[in-house]
Amino acid sequence: MRSPIPDYLAEALRSVQADHSGATADYIPELAHADPDRLAAALCTVDGHIYSAGDAAAEFSIQSISKPFVYALALADRGFDAVLEKVNVEPSGNAFNEMSVEPDTGRPLNPMINAGAIAMHSLVGPPGATPEQRVDRVADGLSAFAGRRLHVDEAVSRSEMSHAYRNRALANMLRAYDIIADDPLVAVAGYTRQCSLLVTAEDLAVMAGTLANRGVNPLTGRPVVSAAVVRQTLSVMATCGMYDGAGDWMTRVGVPAKSGVAGGLIGALPGQAGIATFSPRLDRHGNSVRGVNLFTRFTADMGMHVM
Ligand code: DON
Repeated sequence: MRSPIPDYLAEALRSVQADHSGATADYIPELAHADPDRLAAALCTVDGHIYSAGDAAAEFSIQSISKPFVYALALADRGFDAVLEKVNVEPSGNAFNEMSVEPDTGRPLNPMINAGAIAMHSLVGPPGATPEQRVDRVADGLSAFAGRRLHVDEAVSRSEMSHAYRNRALANMLRAYDIIADDPLVAVAGYTRQCSLLVTAEDLAVMAGTLANRGVNPLTGRPVVSAAVVRQTLSVMATCGMYDGAGDWMTRVGVPAKSGVAGGLIGALPGQAGIATFSPRLDRHGNSVRGVNLFTRFTADMGMHVM
């Protein structure tokens, strides 16, 4: 007998399938060419059950969904004070690629926007880690969250790097304010490799499930980060994870979440489950249109809203 959860997920996918609004990200050519019709949903409970429907095994680049996990690694590696000194935890109300920094210090407003995430990438690993060691720490750390080895999509990474003028501008500003110590181009290259790690909707559900499970991977049983780090990470996801759509998201859907421009979207329900969706067409905030619709429906059907 089929479990009712995959049946429910499959029915939810059918209910959003007709919505073709939005567009794939066009500032990364490799993403603009992605199949816009792919659609998936996956759920990982804190006791390690995975349910999925649609293209749940299709790989796509994690993009900005890497940001909360790298934030968690930086908190674990360097401690809360050292991280907060470089990146604040206030919502910006602006788009993810804006220069949203404090005027006097150049400190990015939060680690979910690009400026904050480029700074965060430079904070993983021990002090003095080389750029290669930081990329390895990110790949190893995100693999621990996913419970399987993740790999960089070199084509996506190259494609983004060849057009990364905005992120290079952000990194130059961060360098001028001494928020990062690296050469700005090296900082952007590392951050771009981070964003190019390939995941499936099921991987993302497990990663979100690890946050929902206080930092212990529900599949492998391995502790990845502490419960205190998870609390800080989920709090920042709740206020900043959906960028300038964060308030609308929190009132409508009501779970800590993070989106990525390849079309992934995660939500974490503390103590219960991680949920992930995948659909590449994006709204004007850079959030997946059908992903937001699916989560809105999950909240209505399952009473997920944390308030
Ligand atoms: O830096 C960038 O612009 C991309 N690598 C990631 C942006 C992103 O995923 C925004 N989220 N929806």
